Amino acid sequence: MIENFDEITKQTLLELENTQKQFWNIARVTGEFLNLLIRTAKSKNVLELGTSNGYSGIWIAKALKETGGKLTTVEFYEKRIKPARENFEKCGVLDIITTIEGSAIKILEYLPEDTKFDFVFIDANKSETLKYFELINPHLIQGGILAVDNVLSHREKVKPFIDAIAQNPDYQNVVLNLPAGLSLARKLR
Ligand SMILES: C[S@@+](CC[C@H](N)C(=O)[O-])C[C@H]1O[C@@H](n2cnc3c(N)ncnc32)[C@H](O)[C@@H]1O
Repeated sequence: MIENFDEITKQTLLELENTQKQFWNIARVTGEFLNLLIRTAKSKNVLELGTSNGYSGIWIAKALKETGGKLTTVEFYEKRIKPARENFEKCGVLDIITTIEGSAIKILEYLPEDTKFDFVFIDANKSETLKYFELINPHLIQGGILAVDNVLSHREKVKPFIDAIAQNPDYQNVVLNLPAGLSLARKLR
């Protein structure tokens, strides 16, 4: 997959992997998986909660360059926004990314009713995952995909969400044994 990327992107991703623990970035294979999935599903309107320094955003946005889509990403830690934007610029994806600074719940609560996403990636405050899901649900289109990281590494914190989505007849959900555990759901109706 990475063979399709330009040299600067390849280099930037490798450099970011040196500080992966410090910035709580997703594993490389999770990035590759999200990229493949977005390209396969031809997703165009993606929301990410938890930008950090932009590592996962680069994998997502590179796929969106192929599908003609755009990414909105949310981060409340102001010091992470600048490096994220710099990394997006280096990798040639800044033009399709809107970075919003603020608390994910507040931003979701104020989303206009007609804002719709076809792919959502949740990777922010693990204890708030269920609340994010409840607020995102009206904005995810039928057939849309919801991916949530850390469902195995932070099992207890994410449990209320996992229990809720497993019981929700509107969603088909599977937990993938990727490094931190990735919940992957499709909205059926
Ligand atoms: C696990 S890291 C995200 C890593 C990023 N997705 C990546 O793989 O490159 C979680 C990020 O979410 C941010 N965050 C935590 N709680 C948040 C909240 N309530 N609203 C917005 N961002 C939040 C943290 O500051 C942190 O940068």
